[in-house]
Amino acid sequence: TGHTGLDYGFVNTASTKSAITFIDGDKGILRYRGYPIEQIANSCSYLEVAWLLIYGELPTPAELAEFDEKIRRHTLLHEDLKHFFQALPDNAHPMAVLSSAVAALSTYYENESDPHNPEHVELNTIRMLAKLPVIAAYAHKKSIGQAFLYPDNSLSFVDNFLKLNFGVHSEPYEINPVMSKALELLLILHEDHEQNASTSTVRLVGSTGANQFASISAGIQALSGPLHGGANEAVLTMLAQIRDSGQSMQRFVERVKNKEDGVKLMGFGHRVYKNYDPRAKLVKAAADQVLAELGVTDPLLDLAKELEEIALADEYFQERRLYPNVDFYTGVIYKAMGFPTRMFTVLFAIGRLPGWLAQWRELNLDPQTKIGRPQQLYTGSQERDFRRS
Ligand code: CMC
Repeated sequence: TGHTGLDYGFVNTASTKSAITFIDGDKGILRYRGYPIEQIANSCSYLEVAWLLIYGELPTPAELAEFDEKIRRHTLLHEDLKHFFQALPDNAHPMAVLSSAVAALSTYYENESDPHNPEHVELNTIRMLAKLPVIAAYAHKKSIGQAFLYPDNSLSFVDNFLKLNFGVHSEPYEINPVMSKALELLLILHEDHEQNASTSTVRLVGSTGANQFASISAGIQALSGPLHGGANEAVLTMLAQIRDSGQSMQRFVERVKNKEDGVKLMGFGHRVYKNYDPRAKLVKAAADQVLAELGVTDPLLDLAKELEEIALADEYFQERRLYPNVDFYTGVIYKAMGFPTRMFTVLFAIGRLPGWLAQWRELNLDPQTKIGRPQQLYTGSQERDFRRS
């Protein structure tokens, strides 16, 4: 008390204790509830990891089956909520649609959203997991002017989502196991990442006693910025600009180093990882494999690799310990699957949802939780007398 430390961007200040995710940025380690990401990534399903993050242990087969079943039962949106999408412009950014629709969703469950009622919390955890992918797919369908499909609850979480996005009304939809596997992996890699900006937002909003819908809607907005989740979209835009500009890669890197027009190498650098981002390693390996399996060749993947190679060999990036982060290669994979660039950050949001839910729950169960309320160092005028000039 009596002393206020100033820490722009919370570089040195912990805001909470947490038992969910461990990161060692110098060693490039990421663990969910103690399990190394490398072991989890290729052996689990999205929902299995969601359970692990939310409840703290891996589910038994029976627990997982029940969880999956419950989520399938909650995928439908209220029919009225569909009109909500029609009120927005066709070119609305899907992240804005996603966040607004989650806020709107809360209006249907006002009497079942008490943060201190464990049954409500449980129910809304299931609702959010079931409905966010449907909302996301509708945001996509709206942006391309296609009819919304009803969820197909005979399908797994990931396949249902793919069908909602790429299925066409009254035509059979064929599941592509390569896409399903790739999307499952990418979603898992995004599931939690301790106190990043969007998770901290979810916690800050949650600390006021706001419900899960309100907290997660705010988290989605925080994720949308290009320095955070919006980076995956920005990487693809950057690569396309490099390709179309006719400029050499060296020249682009020079512009970044000279900080010309504030241009940054999107998908590079991280607040915590100063050696490498273990998720980026897994994504890079997946990119080659998935594109080959889908029979897609994309010159942007070659551009990304060339850019990475040049940057890693450059003193500017070495001195600042800037490496590719999770967002550097994901866009190339999403694009190969057929998602438009503007949907990329929405996919990140679906990935991150279990983490947000787990962190919100941890916050609410922690008896030491207080309303989040940072201090400031006042730099304005001294007291002065009011006089109109
Ligand atoms: N390109 C060029 N220079 C960079 C970059 C970059 N991507 N990232 C950091 N730097 C420079 C920065 O200008 C600063 O240089 P100097 O010391 O000369 O002023 C130095 O490196 C330290 O950077 P910082 O901005 O103090 O680092 P930070 O921890 O505050 O920011 C970051 C972390 C991720 C916001 C930043 O690296 C960045 O803007 N990267 C590009 C956007 C991006 O890819 N974001 C996704 C992050 S990972 C997943 C996610 O959260 O969504």
